[in-house]
Amino acid sequence: MLSYKNGQLHIEDVAVRDVAEELGTPLYIYSLDEIERRIRELRSGFPEDTLIAYSLKANANLNILYLLTHLGCGADVVSGGELKKAILAGFPPEKIVFAGVGKTEAEIEEAINKNILLLNIESGEEYLKVVEVAKRLNKPVRIAVRVNPEIEPGTDEQIATGKRGTKFGVSPDAAYEIYTLAQNEELVQPVGIHVHIGSQIRSPEPYLDAIEKIRPLITEFSEIEYIDIGGGFGIPYTSEQETDFVPLSEYGKAISPVVKSLGKKLIIEPGRAVVASSGILVTKVLYRKLSGGVRYVIVDAAMNDLIRPKLYGAVHTAIPVEEKHDEPVEVDIVGPICEPSDYLAKNYPIPMPEQGELLSFTNVGAYVSVMACNYNGRARAPEAVVKGDKWVTTRDRETFFDLVAKERLFAPIVTSDEEKKTKLATIRVGVTDIRALPTFRSERFSQIIYGFEMKVIEVRGEWAFIRTSQEGYAGWVQTAHIRYIDAPREWTHIVADDFAMLRDGPSESSEPIGKLPLNSRVIVDHEVGEFSAIRLPGGDLAFVKSKHLLGKDEIRFNLKEMLNFSLRFIGVPYLWGGTTPFGFDCSGFVQAMYRRFGIELPRDTKHQINVGEPIEAIEKLRPGDLVFFPRHVGLYLGNMEFIHASLERGRVAINSFDPEETHYNERLRKRFIIGRRIVKHPHRVVE
Ligand code: LLP
Repeated sequence: MLSYKNGQLHIEDVAVRDVAEELGTPLYIYSLDEIERRIRELRSGFPEDTLIAYSLKANANLNILYLLTHLGCGADVVSGGELKKAILAGFPPEKIVFAGVGKTEAEIEEAINKNILLLNIESGEEYLKVVEVAKRLNKPVRIAVRVNPEIEPGTDEQIATGKRGTKFGVSPDAAYEIYTLAQNEELVQPVGIHVHIGSQIRSPEPYLDAIEKIRPLITEFSEIEYIDIGGGFGIPYTSEQETDFVPLSEYGKAISPVVKSLGKKLIIEPGRAVVASSGILVTKVLYRKLSGGVRYVIVDAAMNDLIRPKLYGAVHTAIPVEEKHDEPVEVDIVGPICEPSDYLAKNYPIPMPEQGELLSFTNVGAYVSVMACNYNGRARAPEAVVKGDKWVTTRDRETFFDLVAKERLFAPIVTSDEEKKTKLATIRVGVTDIRALPTFRSERFSQIIYGFEMKVIEVRGEWAFIRTSQEGYAGWVQTAHIRYIDAPREWTHIVADDFAMLRDGPSESSEPIGKLPLNSRVIVDHEVGEFSAIRLPGGDLAFVKSKHLLGKDEIRFNLKEMLNFSLRFIGVPYLWGGTTPFGFDCSGFVQAMYRRFGIELPRDTKHQINVGEPIEAIEKLRPGDLVFFPRHVGLYLGNMEFIHASLERGRVAINSFDPEETHYNERLRKRFIIGRRIVKHPHRVVE
């Protein structure tokens, strides 16, 4: 799978450097061909009707899952999230098994509703819960009892599950009782038995031992059709470990005769053996230093991207992306995280890496990206998959936006009494097109509206038609997104848990026209004319019409600061006017959002269309330019697509259009008056 061609590391026929140049580092890359080879090797020894229920926990990249569905695999899931993902990827429910010691009632309900192959029972109490849910739904459920065979699998403590004293499964005696109870339960079909003894197992013997332990149950309960022996087929992570592990094809050869003699169907749940070898983690060397006699190579990947060395003492081989023949030296490869634990390799022999050089950690296809986290405010790395000489990005790098997307700032709770006197306001208006963020390239229009205040006009089932306090903004939104909080007058306030999607009709299939992450609270900083400058949680300022703010008694007015601020942001010493449906100075708001999300705005103020300029100027627009019109906002995107929102019959119509189309310009000319500059003497203040 990995080879050097012309001195460059290739994964299949794709140069690792090419992918890294495009996506940056750290970066995960997986080979689909390798996964296909692994499945073929594993399958070779097992009977044809063996169900390979791939264990999603090892790697749940949708493209890998999709490939595995095409290779005839099923899925082993351990949570509602994995179950949904397996179904999304296309695994048929009749090939899905669900294990896990702590399934919630909702997860059990979902599994029963989806009619999956086996729900694995891991305790007496869980069995009773499953019976209760099945009865409530009046639906049958196929179960397997997970038995702890109490054997020593000869693997790492932290990944041994089938030993006495682990939390997994039940004893053979308890299993006997559950099967007996299930025999008398109409909706429960005890058609399976499950043992999973651990991970990184080196040979077939522990599986054979486990089957012997459950043989009495299999012979006693003839309803049992499936023996699920779990996963755990081990793989060597380094060349030295190679002789410790039998080849994958050997498992089937050893296990098949036993299963055949029992006359049952076999299920296996491999995770690591299928995907580990398919993946690499590409990282860049940032710095080197000698400290306390240790040569440190500091790279841009860290324990948040690859935790296995620290957590399990695992060794992942690191190889240079550009082939090197120098003598290896011993180094510690460490990441930027502020912990001594943050290492990826210790006392590791490698030709001394140069600053800026790329390294690839190998065998990272299993339990690596899925275990990644955001510790130290680090965005999770992107993923790409390779097939032959082609590659595609399958997951974007997280952005700062992802790091803060689910957070809320409730300043009154954390500020001192003194500070509490500062007025907090809820912005009712202030919109930016979310596609201003480069990652949003979809056809769908979506907007960020901060603290929009809404009136619920009509409720039809789970949909409500809402109108904003701002004239003209209206749409259908799922009632689940609506919360009523103390609200002045007749207005109710929407507080969305997540983005609430505005739609143009009361059904799932109707057009989405906007998104509302709501109830952001901000401090009003100062006021200019009709407008207030508000401080966003990240510290940036944005401007909105004062009448759209709650509690503006203490707003102080500081035009100079405001204009200098606009100069800093917009590069021009005046404010943008016009009466956009979003209040004053959208551009300031947009700019602030860009800054807040750490995005560099590709713009050239020469090409900025100022309020008051003739419509023909649109044609001069370049990607990244912002345009504001009265009752209308639009912006050019990187892909040259022009999006605009306009007011139509009391609703906001969101269209996408091609600026080359002359009829559009005609319409625009008729409909919209081009705005006027509203700050009359900015120079006086700035001088
Ligand atoms: N089935 C069950 C019920 C399991 O608990 C597991 C793994 C598997 C199948 C798949 O095992 P595999 O074939 O991948 O060995 N994070 C650890 C591994 C944890 C394994 C947990 N259970 C690591 O990085 O080594």
